[in-house]
Amino acid sequence: MAHKSDLIAEDIEAYLEAHQHKDLLRFITCGSVDDGKSTLIGRLLYESKLIFEDQLAALESDSKKVGTQGGDIDFALLVDGLAAEREQGITIDVAYRFFSTDRRKFIVADTPGHEQYTRNMATGASTADLAVILVDARKGILQQTRRHSYIVSLLGIRNVVLAVNKMDAVDYAQGVFDGIVEQYREFADMLGLEDVYPIPMSALRGDNVVERSERMRWYGGATLMQHLESVQVERDLAGRPFRLPVQWVNRPDQDFRGFAGTIASGRVRQGDAVRVLPSGRQSTVARIVTLDGDLEEAVAGQSVTLTLADEIDISRGDVLAAADAPPAVADQFQVSLVWMHEEPMLPGRPYLMKIGPRTVTASITDIRHRVNVNTLEQMAARQLDLNEIGLCNLGTDRAVAFDAYEDNRETGAFILVDRISNDTVGAGMIQYALRRADNVHWQALDVDKRARSASKGQKACVLWFTGLSGAGKSTIANLVEKQLLALGRHTYLLDGDNVRHGLNKDLGFTEADRVENIRRVAEVSRLMVDAGLIVMVSFISPFRAERRLARELLEEGEFLEVYVSTPLVEAEKRDPKGLYRKAREGKIRNFTGIDSPYEPPENPELVVDTSVVSAEEGARQVIDMLRTRGRLQS
Ligand code: ADX
Repeated sequence: MAHKSDLIAEDIEAYLEAHQHKDLLRFITCGSVDDGKSTLIGRLLYESKLIFEDQLAALESDSKKVGTQGGDIDFALLVDGLAAEREQGITIDVAYRFFSTDRRKFIVADTPGHEQYTRNMATGASTADLAVILVDARKGILQQTRRHSYIVSLLGIRNVVLAVNKMDAVDYAQGVFDGIVEQYREFADMLGLEDVYPIPMSALRGDNVVERSERMRWYGGATLMQHLESVQVERDLAGRPFRLPVQWVNRPDQDFRGFAGTIASGRVRQGDAVRVLPSGRQSTVARIVTLDGDLEEAVAGQSVTLTLADEIDISRGDVLAAADAPPAVADQFQVSLVWMHEEPMLPGRPYLMKIGPRTVTASITDIRHRVNVNTLEQMAARQLDLNEIGLCNLGTDRAVAFDAYEDNRETGAFILVDRISNDTVGAGMIQYALRRADNVHWQALDVDKRARSASKGQKACVLWFTGLSGAGKSTIANLVEKQLLALGRHTYLLDGDNVRHGLNKDLGFTEADRVENIRRVAEVSRLMVDAGLIVMVSFISPFRAERRLARELLEEGEFLEVYVSTPLVEAEKRDPKGLYRKAREGKIRNFTGIDSPYEPPENPELVVDTSVVSAEEGARQVIDMLRTRGRLQS
């Protein structure tokens, strides 16, 4: 049963050999400390004898000192002790512990049960084959039990152990256990969790954890350890279609061109037909190269370099796949998204999406609903906050190869990364591609941007004025437009207040609405540049991310950011519309500079400080800038 350390002493080689070929089960424990989670993990580690002797000695003396268990070993101290050690370093929210028995090796992801639960659970569960959901027999199924089960189902874990713990506190009564199991099954059915294995136990007393309980003879099933050792998990990555996301292209000389990466699923043999996604090109595998020489065949989990029979263009992030069962390719998806950052997810904001080694720009185009993880209720939402989960539509700037998460966790999962801070902000699972994307094609037109610009004798561009309310953006933009008109230019001025009367009249001043406000005006200004106009945009546009988005919609040199800078005190003193006063009186909420942030540009093409120069001087500086940048020549 437990780990036999005799073999280590007798024949270390044999021990290591046996150890290496043992099957590995990854699982996650869900529950709070109160449910006895630490005690349970401590006992599993202890009984598998993988605790070091000195740790054990310390534990015995600590248990006597603390004395919560009357001289017995307090296993919770062990786990909590490790947790304390861990917290001295950088914060890792998920602790992975390793133990093994004669039959299997185990990695258990232990996630602390504090309020960051969703993020931690999602991290811990993303690689797990099985989840142990702990329930306190005295309390039964709680909201957190439902929440944990929902996340477990969302992450595609099919095997669940319902560990009904603290049976000692309910006199080992079968009725209590049966009642909890019945209640849980109802909920599990709703989630589609089919494989639920309930075990009555007392982690504290050791009942049914490793040793069979003498006190619950009515229970005929396996102990937790027996179950963990023998459960068949539906992993079979090798049996799925072949996928190799290309980590890098290895081209040491003219003669060798290899595509290196870890096989995400399936197997590949020399001579196999493979397809490259997203291009769709096809070839056959010439060689499977590894550090230890060429292979005939390789399977999921192995790192290899493939060479192909044909010279085709393949770059990092492409996917090599079985020619007869390739992944799909799309740029719009329905996804489940777990938000992991204090800064909320705002639809329309661009993020980096990493799916395997491929990185693209992505944004949420719509939140279909947010899920209340406690009740499974679906609710409308304008944004996702930390730990919230939503069903969303997501669009990418380029097509990506993917599988539905349900079919392949490796090629169906992704993370979102903030483009400015580089923090991981979300984790998602692709459900399917949105079909609407298949049926909308880019229409080629004979008259293009250049022709439209040329017919007006000008170079189209955007002058993007950003700054606080009252800084003077609109005043300067207005003067600039008059001067351009006098020079015979074709112009348009998009002003925040005006556009909010029409196109954007459905939007207010929350962060989410401002993101959408700027996204729309960025798209409109792009259309106007396409129409050959010199466009002035005068919006507060408080966030860097969206101004950057506006810039990226255009070609190099077409986007000219003008920061109309004025200290807040100055803008507030001017208060041309009396809005600052109202904001100070609490009559307007989310007012920029007062209770809503403004992020100044980092590298604007021009800064006009209107606390120092007049609006006329500012306008002159803008026209000068256009001239020196060659935008006023035809
Ligand atoms: S933005 O932040 O979304 O870019 P936008 O430029 O469209 O703002 O609109 C700003 C104008 O709306 C201001 O000049 C001001 O007249 C008015 N306004 C009304 N409420 C607010 C508010 N809470 N914050 C800022 N401006 C507001």
